[in-house]
Amino acid sequence: MKTTISEVKKHEGEVVTIGAWLANKRSSGKIAFLQLRDGTGFMQAVVAKNDVSEEVFQLAKDMTQESSMYITGTIVEDKRSPLGFEMQVNDIELIHEAVDYPITPKEHGTEFLMDHRHLWLRSKKQHAVMKIRNEIIRATYQFFNDNGYVKIDPPILTGSSAEGTTELFHTKYFDEEAYLSQSGQLYMEAAAMAFGKVFSFGPTFRAEKSKTRRHLIEFWMIEPEMAFVNHEESLEIQEQYVSFVVQSVLENCRLELNILERDTAKLEQIKAPFPRISYDDAIDLLKEKGFTDIEWGEDFGAPHETAIAESFDKPVFIINYPKDIKAFYMKPHPEREEVVLCADLIAPEGYGEIIGGSQRIDDLELMKQRYEEHGLTGQAYEWYLELSKYGSVPHSGFGLGLERTVAWLAGVDHVRETIPFPRLLNRLYP
Ligand code: 4AD
Ligand code: MG
Repeated sequence: MKTTISEVKKHEGEVVTIGAWLANKRSSGKIAFLQLRDGTGFMQAVVAKNDVSEEVFQLAKDMTQESSMYITGTIVEDKRSPLGFEMQVNDIELIHEAVDYPITPKEHGTEFLMDHRHLWLRSKKQHAVMKIRNEIIRATYQFFNDNGYVKIDPPILTGSSAEGTTELFHTKYFDEEAYLSQSGQLYMEAAAMAFGKVFSFGPTFRAEKSKTRRHLIEFWMIEPEMAFVNHEESLEIQEQYVSFVVQSVLENCRLELNILERDTAKLEQIKAPFPRISYDDAIDLLKEKGFTDIEWGEDFGAPHETAIAESFDKPVFIINYPKDIKAFYMKPHPEREEVVLCADLIAPEGYGEIIGGSQRIDDLELMKQRYEEHGLTGQAYEWYLELSKYGSVPHSGFGLGLERTVAWLAGVDHVRETIPFPRLLNRLYP
């Protein structure tokens, strides 16, 4: 009977066949221990000289790393392994012999591993990170579907910018100038006016020459947008959503968190509500913490965010930033012209901003004025202005960066390991 490593728990005591690769092995005179992987998991297979033919024992002893096989044997309990089971082998059929696999069990430098990303993905830790990424995506769909949101897919080729004009990838669209999407937000606002509560999940692009552990050139964003929802209500949705995702990962990725040696006690406490701190108070807090140069009106960098996050053991919302350092579409605070109804959600443990969100301007005249102030003129925005012209309503939304969230939950310190094939400042390969 053919099965997979993820299913062996259902086959204790039975003889099964698994299609697998050899991740690692060790052998002594009469026994060989094969570390198998099949994509669904990792498992040890024990080949005892007395249980198999001479050829099969020789094959097991000689087999090279990443060779592929069909392997047949009995599934038995093994309390010491994280999986809880191992295989006592009867037979092995070699499918393909791998020669000189470049990633050996010894240590390799990051650049070398990144150059071999297409193979590195097979390793145990990378596998665990991608499984956590997958669980975050699954939990995201569940959360928004269960709460009455409609998934809407905004375009990737666009004629206008959503987050400022400096970080755009330009491309030709036949005779027109086009850009790769920085954010689906403006389209999601149109969708919210048609469907009420919507969310998107897709790739976004920033031609940003930053080389930090939090920046990718291509990253994936989840962008919910809600009609008739104000800023405070949006914060409640955000904390519910993030809590749900964290608890789902804890529940469904025990093995992976274990492989990554993630301190799960820190994640257990991530439950709504999350603390809120105003931008003004954040400035004071930073001054107290020794950032004496920071002035009201300046944006926060990674060291500032980390310092603020240190004061809390849950993610923290920094609310009401100065309007001059935020995007054109954010609604001004009703009592304070100089700040906007927005929040960045900062993850604990130094993982940085994972969400940016705001209530949006819903007044046509103010929107036109902001356009002019930001130099965003032209036909490309006409459709967007029409949203404030025909039945404008209060509405809010936010964007959660998937890779930074994976980095936080998996406890990986650089976002390059949180996406299968990272696009970085100096990397378009593989
Ligand atoms: O704060 P940002 O730029 O917000 C927007 O794009 C809004 N239009 C979203 C919205 O309201 N619909 O980006 C949102 C999140 C950030 O908090 C961060 O997690 C992630 O996207 N992000 C990046 N992740 C990796 N690499 C980059 N270069 C990123 N830039 C933003
Ligand atoms: Mg932001």
